[in-house]
Amino acid sequence: MVTVPWYSVVIFAGVGFTSYFIFASFLYGAGYQPAPPRVARRMLQLAKVGSGDEVFDLGAGTGGLLFQAVEVLGARGTGVEVEPIRYLYLRYRRRRSPARDRIHILRKDLFTVDLTNATVVLAFLWPGAMRRLKEKLKKELRPGTRVVSYYHRITGWKTLEEDAPLRVFVYGIPPVEEPEEPPRRSGPIGLAPGALAAEIRTGPAEGVAAGAVTPAPR
Ligand SMILES: C[S@@+](CC[C@H](N)C(=O)[O-])C[C@H]1O[C@@H](n2cnc3c(N)ncnc32)[C@H](O)[C@@H]1O
Repeated sequence: MVTVPWYSVVIFAGVGFTSYFIFASFLYGAGYQPAPPRVARRMLQLAKVGSGDEVFDLGAGTGGLLFQAVEVLGARGTGVEVEPIRYLYLRYRRRRSPARDRIHILRKDLFTVDLTNATVVLAFLWPGAMRRLKEKLKKELRPGTRVVSYYHRITGWKTLEEDAPLRVFVYGIPPVEEPEEPPRRSGPIGLAPGALAAEIRTGPAEGVAAGAVTPAPR
């Protein structure tokens, strides 16, 4: 009989759990990665979040952004999270928070949540999810609402404010539409003719890095 050392079981379980925790929600619109604290502060600052605001964090993760908006800035907040372990952790954090009366935690797919009460929407999702979200935001949000996206722009909308080095982008509602840039990738292997050679010479262009699976917080 083959005996498996106990530590290989622990390692296997650890790797399995970590992969699940980070990547499982990919199917819904984004894996897990918290916005760095400096970015979270900047997102809330650029959106001018204050005590009169109703903040929705779409994909609230472990709550870094949401709890700062509520506990530090005095807003009311709704965190929407689809992944069950992070949802339970958010509930636990809410129960322990002195501001729990102003916090709602929903275990839902963010594309099914009614956003009509929001005055500020926060999102740190992958580009495909941002594209899907765009029509919902346009349809449901009231004039004057601010939408803040970390890392990925909402294509076709002009920013009200932005911190380009930190990749924080703020949009107003109704959005100011602008022509979308023509797709850069058109060749048979996904790159415009000549682009591959240029990338080999100079490194990836900005749009390519922005589509990467793991954003590189600065
Ligand atoms: C990149 S993390 C951002 C976490 C947090 N907002 C922050 O900035 O620290 C994205 C989160 O969105 C959640 N998520 C992805 N797709 C979702 C969906 N369709 N509905 C609800 N949550 C979703 C993931 O489970 C993950 O926790």
